[in-house]
Amino acid sequence: MQKQTLKDWIKGQGASKGVSDILLTIASSCTGIAKIVNDAPLDGLIGASSQTNVQGEVQKDLDIITNDLMVADLLTVSSVSAMVSEEIDEVIQNSNKSENANLAVCFDPLDGSSNIDNNGIIGTIFSVLELASNSKNITSSDVLSASRNQKAAGYFIYGPACLLMVSVGNKVAMFALSEKQQQFLLVDGGDVSIAKQSNEFAINMSYQRFWDSAIAKYIEQCLLGEQGKRKKNFNMRWAGSMVADVHRIFMHGGVFIYPSMDKKGSENGKLRFLYEANPMAMLVENAGGMAISNSLPIREIRATNIHQRVPVVLGSSQEVEILLNLYQNTQ
Ligand code: AHG
Ligand code: MN
Ligand code: MN
Repeated sequence: MQKQTLKDWIKGQGASKGVSDILLTIASSCTGIAKIVNDAPLDGLIGASSQTNVQGEVQKDLDIITNDLMVADLLTVSSVSAMVSEEIDEVIQNSNKSENANLAVCFDPLDGSSNIDNNGIIGTIFSVLELASNSKNITSSDVLSASRNQKAAGYFIYGPACLLMVSVGNKVAMFALSEKQQQFLLVDGGDVSIAKQSNEFAINMSYQRFWDSAIAKYIEQCLLGEQGKRKKNFNMRWAGSMVADVHRIFMHGGVFIYPSMDKKGSENGKLRFLYEANPMAMLVENAGGMAISNSLPIREIRATNIHQRVPVVLGSSQEVEILLNLYQNTQ
């Protein structure tokens, strides 16, 4: 049977033309990125560049190339009013926008950059926000105050297969890039859900000494396994790439944690609100999971900086509930 294309699926979801144009453009950019990633070792694109981004992180060649590609492609879309990229300090204005354009696209062009050199899984994360203003010059605060008005969110994962997880409303659908057709085709029937229960957690254990007491207690109970009050054994995974860790949760359940830490520069964790936490939270919630930042739902955060970092806990609802209770009772 013929598989549904991304274009047809979007049409069936009732997305506006503006949102649809953006999603199809991002899908085309990421089809290009999948190729670039594939050829990166042969093209000498493994390794660090000499530049650093606004967060003081050393950029890899691929961070810059993928950013430039996405920015150039999205600048051609008339419904895009402005953009925020992990790799660019300021809000990017679109001089090609139509008069009534009111959508902003926030993205992490390459997530999991530390995995590039070891051929590990990397990805692209994006969020489409509806702005309250259609003024010529979109400010940081215009974008930030639209963060609760997410019209679409998704991620691409460049692994053994190139996949797209996307939501434009209630449901989450999974697509795979067909090598033959060079387009994304629906894999799962269009309604992915996250298991409510799980016995797997994803956290970077090497930071244990910097955790707050809620996280420390939760992990302590997981590690006690059958002997502890959770009465079940837990497994642990950490890919060092949010897309890879979150994707595993979509497939098998689990909880992903990047907490605030008692460590200089990591007081709010590491992950950025606009283009990592917020889109992942929309996807996770639309798949029946939960996404919190300490005791607040991630999607209710009011960030004050476009590159703001926030603590992140997301995944299977029963596990996130346990963490939420710990935050409410121990802080
Ligand atoms: P990016 O490559 O876009 O900077 O994001 C990397 C993030 C995220 O993908 C991952 O979960 C986290 O960094 C891993 O951080 P640690 O190296 O501290 O474990
Ligand atoms: Mn990232
Ligand atoms: Mn990145």
